[in-house]
Amino acid sequence: MAKDVILTGIRANNDLHIGNYFGAMLPIVDMAKTKSAEYQINMFIPDLHSFTTPIDHSRLYESIINNARVYAATGLPMDDENIYIYRQSQISAHSELTWILDCFSGFGQLERMTQFKDKSAKLGNEQISVGLFNYPVLMAADILLYNAKYVPVGEDQTQHLEFTRDIAERMNARFGDIFTVPEPVKKQHEFFGNDQGLRIKDLLDPTKKMSKSDETGKGVIFLTDTPEHAAKKIMGATTDDKANVAYNKAEQPGISNLLEILTLMRQANGKSVSLQQTNNEFTGHTRYGDFKKIVADETAEFLRSFQASYNTVDMQKVEAKLQASEAAMRTTANETLLRTQRAVGLRQ
Ligand code: ADP
Ligand code: TRP
Repeated sequence: MAKDVILTGIRANNDLHIGNYFGAMLPIVDMAKTKSAEYQINMFIPDLHSFTTPIDHSRLYESIINNARVYAATGLPMDDENIYIYRQSQISAHSELTWILDCFSGFGQLERMTQFKDKSAKLGNEQISVGLFNYPVLMAADILLYNAKYVPVGEDQTQHLEFTRDIAERMNARFGDIFTVPEPVKKQHEFFGNDQGLRIKDLLDPTKKMSKSDETGKGVIFLTDTPEHAAKKIMGATTDDKANVAYNKAEQPGISNLLEILTLMRQANGKSVSLQQTNNEFTGHTRYGDFKKIVADETAEFLRSFQASYNTVDMQKVEAKLQASEAAMRTTANETLLRTQRAVGLRQ
């Protein structure tokens, strides 16, 4: 029997930062490594999702390849046959199935999607693309084409997962069993463990999350920052005037963020420490400068070692992996597409 499929994707629309790395890349790569014996793992690069909001297109191709390279540098095994890594735009069935699903998606339902409301609120009317509106339908196609059962996504994407389940159930009820319906969000959490709450905050405004959409990038540590530049950003992080290190997200968001970053960096640098242990070690320190220096050094060490593995990634191997995965997944995707085309009467 075919293995159950775990599927996920991270958007390639800008430089990746330590929030993407610790909140998404690293846990996904760890999950892939631990589950690939039992499951088929589909990791894909949702490059058609990359310009639902405006981007610099002269850099898109580079970001797509860079995404695959970061996966490799994070330790994703390129020779594991149960792991597929592919580019969405290389498999035309994504676009084709999206159109069919579009015609069964309600305008009202899509209009209520929180991400659409949030992202469109930040854009002028002329800049809100139909693609942004349509985003969840493309995402449903991404999932349904490969019969995925488990889809690890962050909190902000759970509504889109529910939308996917909904459209799959409705089409199955109407046309017979076309699609595998992914598990409900609660089951997904049980399966993956519930630690998707990690949110690294912006260094200058620790009340908002670190984000690649940030225009200045001053409060964001990119994986491509030089260790020295990153250290400077940490030294300039916004804190408070209490002169007393404490893990208290409500009252000391800057310091709490730095404690979290320090713990993650230490772990990535091979030290086995928990957040609790880091907090115990630094609680009550009065000299923020000294504390920041420790966080800065640990961050620089992480970047040095990450960038060393990034620079030695064998890109021929990555390219070969992408192409082999794309060939295999094209076959699966086309099977689902044909099943759907038959069901709706486009094919016999
Ligand atoms: P961004 O806001 O930087 O554009 P995305 O919304 O494209 O990031 O998210 C890509 C992935 O990275 C998602 O899985 C998301 O949960 C994760 N992620 C993004 N920002 C952070 C953060 N600051 N801390 C932890 N995880 C994050
Ligand atoms: N929308 C997801 C995000 O922004 C990326 C994505 C696109 C995705 N298609 C998907 C994730 C399918 C999981 C499954 O993070």
